[in-house]
Amino acid sequence: MNLEKGYLEKKIDPSLDLFKEISHLKKTKNAIILAHYYQDADIQDIADYIGDSLGLAQQAEKSTADIILFAGVHFMAETAKILNPKTKVLLPDLKAGCSLADSCPVDAFSAFKASHPDHIVLTYINCTADIKALSDVIVTSTNAVQIVESFPKDQKIIFAPDKNLGAYINKITGRNMVLWNGSCMVHEIFSLEKLIKLKAQHPKALVLAHPECEAHILEYADFIGSTTAILNYSKKSDAQEFIVLTETGIIHQMQKASPTKTFIPAPPNNSCACNDCPHMKLNTLEKIYLALKYEQPELLMSEELIEKSKAPINKMLELSAKFGL
Ligand code: 13P
Ligand code: SF4
Repeated sequence: MNLEKGYLEKKIDPSLDLFKEISHLKKTKNAIILAHYYQDADIQDIADYIGDSLGLAQQAEKSTADIILFAGVHFMAETAKILNPKTKVLLPDLKAGCSLADSCPVDAFSAFKASHPDHIVLTYINCTADIKALSDVIVTSTNAVQIVESFPKDQKIIFAPDKNLGAYINKITGRNMVLWNGSCMVHEIFSLEKLIKLKAQHPKALVLAHPECEAHILEYADFIGSTTAILNYSKKSDAQEFIVLTETGIIHQMQKASPTKTFIPAPPNNSCACNDCPHMKLNTLEKIYLALKYEQPELLMSEELIEKSKAPINKMLELSAKFGL
């Protein structure tokens, strides 16, 4: 079956109500849709659960559905498969990758790890299963600080792949983790100059930033946190205006939760739509409909890799439960 971008979408009868069709397929196939906050609004609206990387992993683990359709990117669907290997996991577009995961190739990382033999390896969930298999504990932006702090101060740690998140954790915990030199193309695109101008135009707006942003941008943030933390902060805050330094998809839930508040996406450093993640945005309602209908493309993994990459993810879930996350 040819699943090249756009090929099958053209074959869909344009008169079909995709929301209705997708709901029907979910019911008849006992399927659920897990969607990340960075998905398009209409995808979030048909999802059974919308969340950040940690929430999505927790939902995948406890799912009893026959099919999990993952509206997110490859490493997230892989994590769902590792946590729930008997369930069929569908990713509407297998090419939905992640620049951060791509910035950490397994051979180079193995050599890096070998050159720091007395270090443990803490790895951000935005990495491939091969990298997870080389890690001691996985973290997400929601639990990273608490997990790092659960280790003794003198514990030597390698943190990969996001150097920005790693530097942020080092700063607020006073640690000196050795950082892999990776980053996210979306969170590195924000322009400080334009942010300062925007803030001058909206002096009462609070600046909310994801810790994948660069340090000089984070300095201007009133609040730094994961997508879920940013969303919760915007709900509770008395402020009426917010400048949002993360992928624009999150604004859909912010606006839904606080319809009278104003959310302004922070400007990228040129006129592109680069604060939209091109990988996340490969998913469409049409591809979701086709994926559920034909039960393809399926995320497949070897039992060996599932086995090798499971322990550090389970460790993260155990610690998150302990911290009440
Ligand atoms: P969280 O889902 O942990 O907020 O991370 C954002 C992200 O970049 C996911 O790719
Ligand atoms: Fe990866 Fe960045 Fe896209 Fe998240 S926003 S999936 S980290 S490229």
